[in-house]
Amino acid sequence: MVKRTLVTSALPYANGPIHMGHLVEYIQTDVFVRSQKMMGKDLIYCCADDTHGTPISINAEKAGMKPEDFVAKYAIEHQRDFKSFLIEFDSFYSTNSPENKEFSDLIFSRLKENDDIYEKEVEQYYCEHCGRFLPDRYVKGKCPKCGAEDQYGDVCEKCNGTYDVVDLVEPFCVNCKGKPVRKTSKHLFFKLSKYSDWLNTWLNSAKIQPEVRNQILNWVKEGLQDWCISRDGPYFGFQIPGTDKFYYVWLDAPIGYISSTKNYCNLNGLDVDSYWNVSGNQDDSDSRIIHVIGKDIVYFHLLFWPAVLHSAKIKLPDEVVVHGFLTVNGEKMSKSRGTFLSAQELLEMVKPEHLRFFYAASLNKVMTDIDLDLNEFKNRVNNELVSNIANFFHRSFSFLSANFEGKLVKPDLDEVTKTTEIVNSIFESYSNFEFRKAVSEILRLSSIGNSYMQANEPWKLIKEDPDKTQMVLSTCVNIAKNLAICLKPILPEYVKAIENQLGVSSLTLADLDVIIEGSIKEPEVYFRKIDDLRIGKMKFDLDLRVAKIEKIERHPEADKLYIEHLDLGNGEKRQIVSGLVPYYSAEELEGKKIILVANLEPAKLRGVMSEGMLLAGEEGETVGVLFVSDAELGTSVLPAGYEASTELINYKQFTKVKLSVKDGKAMFEDKILLAGTEEVKAERVINGSVS
Ligand code: MSP
Ligand code: ZN
Repeated sequence: MVKRTLVTSALPYANGPIHMGHLVEYIQTDVFVRSQKMMGKDLIYCCADDTHGTPISINAEKAGMKPEDFVAKYAIEHQRDFKSFLIEFDSFYSTNSPENKEFSDLIFSRLKENDDIYEKEVEQYYCEHCGRFLPDRYVKGKCPKCGAEDQYGDVCEKCNGTYDVVDLVEPFCVNCKGKPVRKTSKHLFFKLSKYSDWLNTWLNSAKIQPEVRNQILNWVKEGLQDWCISRDGPYFGFQIPGTDKFYYVWLDAPIGYISSTKNYCNLNGLDVDSYWNVSGNQDDSDSRIIHVIGKDIVYFHLLFWPAVLHSAKIKLPDEVVVHGFLTVNGEKMSKSRGTFLSAQELLEMVKPEHLRFFYAASLNKVMTDIDLDLNEFKNRVNNELVSNIANFFHRSFSFLSANFEGKLVKPDLDEVTKTTEIVNSIFESYSNFEFRKAVSEILRLSSIGNSYMQANEPWKLIKEDPDKTQMVLSTCVNIAKNLAICLKPILPEYVKAIENQLGVSSLTLADLDVIIEGSIKEPEVYFRKIDDLRIGKMKFDLDLRVAKIEKIERHPEADKLYIEHLDLGNGEKRQIVSGLVPYYSAEELEGKKIILVANLEPAKLRGVMSEGMLLAGEEGETVGVLFVSDAELGTSVLPAGYEASTELINYKQFTKVKLSVKDGKAMFEDKILLAGTEEVKAERVINGSVS
């Protein structure tokens, strides 16, 4: 009989805001935790900020802050963001805590006692210009495994491979961009290789998704390298006793799980041993430890961490749940495409419970990526959450309120009991992290409620048999109560409102057998249909760029045409033909920075090749070119919130794009065209068309 369960999410780096990708994991864990608590399990959810390491020092330095102040700022922001999305921890702590220092030193001393730590000279990069050793994050170069450019010295963000910093191809110092030299320095290593066989066995016994287990067993088979756990100063972290080195952040980070648990125990009069058995006096099977992590940190959680715990004789995790990464409309989140939103930014666009519902509906216990498809988001919220689920609650409650003052009578127990089996299976799905299945069963349950109501037609029945109508509605309310139980892990605030209407205190799974009596309160509309969710930039059909007219000549065959030679910056040149002879002299045009339609199919105009066209405004007889003064050559010209298309278009397609001049400014619909930050203007023309 398992007494207690500890659940953790990975510790977010105190190095930036919580973003929509992080939220997948914390919502996933939170839904699980809430469901288990509703089942009466003795379970806690612990997390912390991961505060150490080079990226944090670098960014604190950039922000002109001490690392301690920098991480303190994120501690506050992170907890605010988690709260906004209804993620509730039993302990949210910090790896930069006295407890974490103590546990790190304790574990390190046990590794040493166990003869698992040794010193080795390693070649490292040293920047002579900056006068310091360069830890992993201070060196960048090409990934030795996949060749991706601009990767840090420890892991590749492209292929998730880990490697030695000296294996980086074409390395450079992040600080001064200079070429570092190799120098030797003594470092501490943990004998990971010694644990290959043990890991093999453990990996087969722990609860791990099969696809994850296979991946790691392969790594073990390929041979494990010992793990360098020390870093040279200056480093934001804990100094290793008796040395001038610091623990590598990935040594003390997972120890933060223990420290956060300890923090919870301190506040609740408990012993951390009852979860982790640090002292070795407890029976390990007394507790259960579950880690939830993303696919990028599997190596650390399923090789280093268990080996360290095993060597230090501390309880091992029983289960590790790995999720995939969030994509937006099928593509990686990207700052430049506007699809990398912080929790704060997201909060302005979506209701937290809409996002929780969508994420839950997308999550299963698999490592595949989950996609925030914006159409699907809208459809799920409108068709499933609003039209199916919320509508059932609202119809049942408001009909009973309007016609029977909300008074309940004995429901049809057969109908209510029919749903209990589904509820139990939904909680089984929650327990297995099969949330997609849970949500589809919830929808089925809600449909059963809706069908029952539809079949009995209380709006007609009330004229013939009010008593039966009241019974039917009371049955609906009790089915709704069961539905609320199922929804609560995902939609805690909504269900709080339902509980209030039902006049019950906090629903748990035990309330499945309780029949709601008395009367209900009149409901308020809680969820409404939503409009399109706009995340990311919209496509602009034109590729407009700033170009300079370098040289101009008359077309040999046509009176009204010029041939312009353009400089697009970055060494790119083009020639275009335009009909400006009646409006401009060659001298007036030469040297001007105009706006080129760069994705127009090249065409011959009276025998001369034209690779694009320049934009001009037109107002009656007046014609004036669109221009910029300051923007650099090659700058992309766009309305705010748009990204350029690079697909070639023909002239007819061009004419469909709604460009105009208003108050002397170039516009697309009601948006000003911008070259970087500069507004594009028209010469001569105040209000007119663009061609
Ligand atoms: N600090 C480490 C974890 C240490 S655990 C002892 C770390 N931090 S993180 O802030 O980069 O990521 C925290 C968690 O969020 C990780 O599990 C990571 O996989 C997850 N995610 C970060 N970006 C994500 C997406 N775009 N999509 C889904 N999950 C993502 O790693
Ligand atoms: Zn340097």
